Amino acid sequence: MSRLSLIRKPVDKEMRAFEGYFNNTLRTNVPLLKIILNYIIRRKGKQMRPLLIFLSAGLNGNINESTYVAATFIELLHTATLVHDDVVDNAHERRGALSINALWNSKIAVLTGDYLLSQGLLIGIEKNRYDMLEIISEAVQSMSEGELLQLQKARKLNITEDIYLDIIRMKTAALISACTECGTVSVTDDPDIIKIMKDLGENIGMAFQIRDDLFDYQNNGLIGKSAANDIKEKKITLPLIHALNESSSSERKRILNIIRSKKKTSSEIKKVIDFVVKNEGTTYAANMMEKYRDKAFAILDIFEDSEMKTSMKEFITFTTSRAK
Ligand code: IPE
Ligand code: IPE
Ligand code: MG
Ligand code: MG
Repeated sequence: MSRLSLIRKPVDKEMRAFEGYFNNTLRTNVPLLKIILNYIIRRKGKQMRPLLIFLSAGLNGNINESTYVAATFIELLHTATLVHDDVVDNAHERRGALSINALWNSKIAVLTGDYLLSQGLLIGIEKNRYDMLEIISEAVQSMSEGELLQLQKARKLNITEDIYLDIIRMKTAALISACTECGTVSVTDDPDIIKIMKDLGENIGMAFQIRDDLFDYQNNGLIGKSAANDIKEKKITLPLIHALNESSSSERKRILNIIRSKKKTSSEIKKVIDFVVKNEGTTYAANMMEKYRDKAFAILDIFEDSEMKTSMKEFITFTTSRAK
């Protein structure tokens, strides 16, 4: 059994039911959209967010209909943001296959993303979960702000570690903390628990994105999206930020010139990767990721032992050691 399916064990039945629920929301009479939605259903992702929602609910009470609403709602929005993200990042691969923008085009991808986003919002409204609608809409707003800040920094190449951390908090940790928060509000209205669970998600989210950014520097052929795409897109993430801070001003200039250039040869990309590794950028980022992981562990320690807690612990370990 894969590690993720072991983590899923205490909520396996729920995850299976969720999948039917999710696929059922992807219905339309527009033939082109039908084809695209089928493509999305076949190329599903790791479904880590629904899993986190069910575990958060199970840790704090009894999973119920509104837990499914949260899971479906958030996975729809997550899918929408990935479809949009691949347009923004000029990415041609996603989930081990061609991205929507690569297979069709950007116009189609933007509109498909909008469809998924509105479908998510409608589910929250239909089920009268305005509390979740608020939590998730705030997360999505923060994601757009994070992405725009990232684009601005890619134009100017003046990113610092603090700004990087702000960006990933906005673009990734916000939605992951919405998962732990919504999972929890589906079973309890205790404000202290909700706050603790939100914090837990934020730390998991930070660690998750740092791991994702490390992938750009370590192509193991498993990721299902191309490595070095961040470098190509002038996206300066933590490993590179640290390496730049550690280097001489002439070396810094040389590397930034490569990053700045529109077309990069594979030997130039290799130069950047070697530079980052040599200056311990990847080690530094891995250490930072472990700090967030350990904060998440410390928060989880407050809870009494249970099967859900064990799975949640494994989920956190998986987040920081996953190979894709
Ligand atoms: C990718 O998220 C987007 C980031 C926040 C880095 P996942 O790695 O969870 O994507 P899927 O859903 O499994 O494809
Ligand atoms: C993922 O961000 C999308 C959001 C978090 C909004 P990235 O662009 O960093 O992630 P991948 O590597 O394409 O999945
Ligand atoms: Mg992006
Ligand atoms: Mg991307």
